[in-house]
Amino acid sequence: MDEGINAGKKAAAYKAVDDFVKDNQIIGVGSGSTIVYSIDRIAERVKNENLKLICIPTSFQARQAIIERGLTLGQLEMNPKLDIAIDGADEVDYQLNCIKGGGGCQTQEKIVDYCAEEFILVADYRKDSEHLGDSWKKGIPIEVIPMAYKPVQMKIQSKLGGKANIRMATKKAGPVVTDNGNLILDWCFEGKQNWEQVDTFLHSIPGVVETGLFIQSAKMVYFGTAEGKVYTR
Ligand code: 5RP
Repeated sequence: MDEGINAGKKAAAYKAVDDFVKDNQIIGVGSGSTIVYSIDRIAERVKNENLKLICIPTSFQARQAIIERGLTLGQLEMNPKLDIAIDGADEVDYQLNCIKGGGGCQTQEKIVDYCAEEFILVADYRKDSEHLGDSWKKGIPIEVIPMAYKPVQMKIQSKLGGKANIRMATKKAGPVVTDNGNLILDWCFEGKQNWEQVDTFLHSIPGVVETGLFIQSAKMVYFGTAEGKVYTR
């Protein structure tokens, strides 16, 4: 991967942790490659500053990363109120709407991120767009119950147009299966959309578990540039 992209990811991920993480917090830990830098920074600060934190994972990947770094793992049954959640994004627009789920974790991410008093996004500069779809061409990830994927796919395509492609691991390996045992449809669309209406429609289809549309739920986004600088929105 391009060095500049990694520099951007790291800078944004570190700065968000430095600005928002404080002692005695319960923290939602997102998924993806950018958030790995945030988890590294949280681990550094726990060690150096002796912070007492509880980390709530948004995926199997996040859970493993928390455990591997010796951080305190929590769960929503015991810690349902989070101080902050920090998570990655596939694209963020000027209204702080974002697409998540490039790694297929959007359902648990949304559950955890929405439990936080403050939800913060971290991403490299490529994810910064005026309108969703300007740069992220892989569509809106939609988690579906396996037996429902075909009718859901047909309903989406007939009402919204575009293509709702089942996400494949590889042709041989078959479809991607989420941490919840479900499938993912990636709805590829064209043109500008009313995201609230789209999300309401998608949630109305039986078999849809959750979408990767996060509508104005984040308080702030940190973007990292290729030079390792950070700007926010
Ligand atoms: C996983 C996600 C990720 O946060 C999103 O795909 C961004 O990932 P990366 O930081 O690797 O670009 O939503 O479901």
